[in-house]
Amino acid sequence: MTPKRKPVGQKGLRRFPHARSVSDGATLPIMTTAPHPSSSSSTPNVHAHPHAPHGPIDAEAFRRAGHALIDWIADYRENIASRPVAHLPAPGAIRAMLPERAPERGEPMTAILEDLNRVVMPGIVHWQHPGWFAYFPANSSYESILGELASAGLGVQGMLWSTSPACTEIETQVLDWLVHALGLPRGFLSTTAGGGVLQDTASSAALVAMVAARERATEFASDAHGLGAGGRAIVCYTSDQAHSSIEKAARIAGIGKEFVRLIPVDERGAMRVDILEQEIVRDRNLGHLPAFVSATVGTTGVNAIDPVATIAKVCNAHRIWLHVDAAMSGTAAFCEEFRFVNTGAEFADSWCFNPHKWMPVNFDCDVLWVANRAELVRALSVLPEYLRNSATESGKVIDYRDWQVPLGRRFRALKLWFVLRSFGIGGMRALVREHVEMAQDLAARAKAHAKLALVVDPPLNLVCIAHKDGDDATQRLIDAVNRDGRFLVSHCRFHGKLVLRVSIGALATTRAHVAAFTTLLCAEADRA
Ligand SMILES: Cc1ncc(COP(=O)(O)O)c(C=O)c1O
Repeated sequence: MTPKRKPVGQKGLRRFPHARSVSDGATLPIMTTAPHPSSSSSTPNVHAHPHAPHGPIDAEAFRRAGHALIDWIADYRENIASRPVAHLPAPGAIRAMLPERAPERGEPMTAILEDLNRVVMPGIVHWQHPGWFAYFPANSSYESILGELASAGLGVQGMLWSTSPACTEIETQVLDWLVHALGLPRGFLSTTAGGGVLQDTASSAALVAMVAARERATEFASDAHGLGAGGRAIVCYTSDQAHSSIEKAARIAGIGKEFVRLIPVDERGAMRVDILEQEIVRDRNLGHLPAFVSATVGTTGVNAIDPVATIAKVCNAHRIWLHVDAAMSGTAAFCEEFRFVNTGAEFADSWCFNPHKWMPVNFDCDVLWVANRAELVRALSVLPEYLRNSATESGKVIDYRDWQVPLGRRFRALKLWFVLRSFGIGGMRALVREHVEMAQDLAARAKAHAKLALVVDPPLNLVCIAHKDGDDATQRLIDAVNRDGRFLVSHCRFHGKLVLRVSIGALATTRAHVAAFTTLLCAEADRA
C-alpha cells in the first residue's frame, strides 16, 4: 500500500522547478514483483485483499530489483554531467515528501525504488560529478560499489578472526599491499611489530591513535583508573590548520579542548616546529604531560604539508606519540615523484589516509597504520567471556576488534580489494598523475591572470586562488562560478584571507572539464 503523502511536499517541490527537473534523468525499468508467498493460492484471503502486504522480497524479486538498481546507478553515473552539481531544495522539502509514519503494511519494491527518482534525487548534491571541485573528492567507483554490495550480501561481522577469517586476512593482506604500493615504511607491514587496520574515517583513526598515545604516556594508568590517576594534564599538539577531528578526538578521549595546543603555521600553512617545541617545554615546566602530536600531510584548507621529519625529532626527544594525518594527500604516494608526502613516515607511531577521498573507494574507508600494534591493542582490548576462542588464544590471528572503537566490523576491505585489483597500481598512478597535472595547468592559468593570485603554490591537486581586489571580489567570484551549475568550488580562510579552493580529484573529471572551468573562472574574474 502506498501511504497518503503530505500535499505540502508536492507543493514544496513544485516551487523548485529546477529540483524537479534534476530527478528526471535516471529511469527505473518497470519491474514486476514476484508474488509473495503470502499471496499464493493457498492464502486466497490475503491475495484478494486490496491492500495485500508486500515484502520481505524473495530471492527472485531481489534479483530483479537488484538488476534494476544497478541499471539505475549506471544510468545516473553516465548522465551525471548533464545535471547541475548542486541545486538545493528548500529546507524540509525532501522530508515533507515522506509520510508521517512508517508504513504499517509493506510496500512493493517497485514503489520504493521509484521514490529514488521522486524523493531522493531532488535532494542530492552530485559528489561524483566531473565538476566536483569542492571540499575534497569522495570518489565512488563501480568497482567499490560492487565490493560494497558483496560485503552487504555476505553480511558478516569480522570482529574476531574466527567470526570470518576472510574478512580479517584479506584486510591484512590488502593493507600490506598498500604499504608497498605507496612506498611507506616496512615497519607498517603486518609481518613486523606494526600493522594496518581499516577504520571508518580519519576522525576515528585519530581517536584510537590518541587513546594509545594517552595510555603510553600514562603507562596505561588512564585505562585502569581514569584520567585523574596520574594527576597531570595530558596535552596534544597539532597545527592551527589541522582538521577539527583532532580537537574532537581530544574531547572524546577526555583530554579536553583546553589541552589541545594549536600551533601556528608558516606562510605556506605548515606547522612551525620551533613553536611546537617551545609549547612542549612550557607544558612540561607547568607539570603537564605532553602525549600526542598530530602532523598533517595535506591540510584541509590549502593542502599544506607539515615537516614531519623535523616534528619527529621533537617528538622523539620528548617521548611523544607522532600521528600523521594524510587523509587526502596520502594517495599521492602511488606516484614516486610525489613521495615527498611520505617524508618522515618512518618516524611516525601512527599514520592514516582515506582511500574514501582521492582513491576511488567509496565512503567509508580509512587506513590506519601503527608502528607498534601491541600498544594500540593493549589500549583498546577488552575480552568478555563470550568472545573467547581457541584461535585468539593461539596468538596466531589478528582480531581487529582490538584496533578500533566498535566491537562489530563489516567487510570493508572488499571494496579496497576490488578497486586495487581492477585499477592495478598503474591505474591508480595514472589517475593521481592526471589530477595533479590538471591542477597544475589550472594554477598556471590562474597565476597568469591579471586579476587572480595563487594563495600558495599547489603541491598537488588543490588550487587555492584569491581575487586581487580582495575578499568581496573573491566571494563574488565563488558565487558566480557556483551559480553556473557545471562546477562546485568551496572556500577557506588562510591567514585571514578568503580563498577559492579548486580541489581536482573526482574520478569523472577530464581535461575538458578543467579547461571549461578555467575559461569560466577567468571570465568571471574579469567581471567580479
Ligand atoms: C586533513 C583531513 N583530515 C581529516 C579529515 C576528516 O576525515 P574523515 O571524514 O575521514 O574523518 C579531513 C576531511 O576532509 C581532512 O581534510
